[in-house]
Amino acid sequence: MRRFPEGFLWGVATSAYQIEGSVDADGRGPSIWDTFCATPGAIEGGQHARVACDHYRRVDEDVALLADLGVSSYRFSIAWPRIQPSGRGPANAKGVAFYDQLVDKLLARGIRPFPTLYHWDLPQRLEDEGGWPARATADRFAEYAGIMARALGDRVQDWALFNEPFIFTSRGYMLGRYAPGRRSIGDFLRAVHTVSLAHGDGFRAVRAERPGARIGSVFAMAPTEAATDSDADHGAAAYADALFNRLFLDPIFHGVHPAEFTESLAGNALGAEPGDAERMQVPLDFIGVNCYYRLVVSAGGARPDLPFFLFGIRTDARTAGGHGDMSEAHPHVENAFGRNEGARTEMGWEIWPQALRDVLLMITTRYGRIPIEVCESGCAFADVPASDGVVHDDARIAYHRAHLRAVIEAMAAGADVRSYHAWSLFDNFEWASGYRPRFGLAHVDYQTQRRTLKASGEWYRALCRSRRGV
Ligand code: FCB
Repeated sequence: MRRFPEGFLWGVATSAYQIEGSVDADGRGPSIWDTFCATPGAIEGGQHARVACDHYRRVDEDVALLADLGVSSYRFSIAWPRIQPSGRGPANAKGVAFYDQLVDKLLARGIRPFPTLYHWDLPQRLEDEGGWPARATADRFAEYAGIMARALGDRVQDWALFNEPFIFTSRGYMLGRYAPGRRSIGDFLRAVHTVSLAHGDGFRAVRAERPGARIGSVFAMAPTEAATDSDADHGAAAYADALFNRLFLDPIFHGVHPAEFTESLAGNALGAEPGDAERMQVPLDFIGVNCYYRLVVSAGGARPDLPFFLFGIRTDARTAGGHGDMSEAHPHVENAFGRNEGARTEMGWEIWPQALRDVLLMITTRYGRIPIEVCESGCAFADVPASDGVVHDDARIAYHRAHLRAVIEAMAAGADVRSYHAWSLFDNFEWASGYRPRFGLAHVDYQTQRRTLKASGEWYRALCRSRRGV
């Protein structure tokens, strides 16, 4: 048995758009994901999230499920379009009330409310005005962050500003895979810069309202390995590391984008202005990390053989001073998410628990012994209920056990890890993949909305309740 320290938080994570449904309720405005879901071919099977897990209407039942699990932390996200239906101006009281009550319900059960302000659901109106590539969106985000800090900050102590900025800027603005579905490297570059500004502005907005708040942000991170020992592959792996792991953290901690990234940019492709370095730089109180795989990178000739969301920048960025659209020419790189040494999940991601340990130690080496929250860790499997109605998902139990052991190893080696959040509380809308991948500790029957703990949920409950170790 390996033990966790007293005070370590056991949690689960969700996000608003993936679970809430009720997209027209109580004055909510449309988001870019509503629009994207209505775009033919965007979501597998033509699915949408108008109902999702119906969490907006079943919140009491779901908080009871959290309490039954015995978690001590719940990471959820706040839907900006419920708070500011058109992305600006005074708060929509009914939208705020939903999260206000959620916070109270969690606290009444002894669960830490741990909100993320932006988990990808931009108000559509702001996209119409330019979206994340427009610098003004950073001002809008700061206004929204201030509203939420004012509304909930008397009870919410710990805030995450963004979820996985690299994923939503690259897939949303460069690759067209996620909302808003744009395919422009120029838009991607400007979005990267605006989101970096928004980290600074959002941090200061929350701080101004609540001087005692702990404020961080959540990043998708992965160790990057060279596919072979060649210099070219090592170079490609270092480049992928700069892009995937440091693109947003370096501006926050050092006020500059990674040199590997900016050196290939023509002109002022980021739309930077004097004073931006200071504006982007803020002393985050913690780093949130979501680690699902390791990246194996090869240089592959003229065009680097990078994972689909990394490709292109190196070769195409030189022409990105203008609005050059990028063609979708690159095939999915089969082996990018691992090396075929571990088994793979339903997402095709190699199960490689050491990746989490490596990432936690990488953060500790690069940014000092900063507190780290593991904000997501989990796996999708086909998960068919047996005749007893239960999903016997031993593979998910093994997955979480191995990843929790990786956390303990990293802590023993010096990482200051405060929490572990399983992704996810229950099966939900997995973005462009629709409802096919099931990540939950509880199974959701989308016909009846019935939630049933999987075997992994029972296992996690025992762990949360004993709060000991794995
Ligand atoms: C992460 C997202 C989360 C979920 C998991 C599987 O990239 O933050 O919303 O989709 O992947």
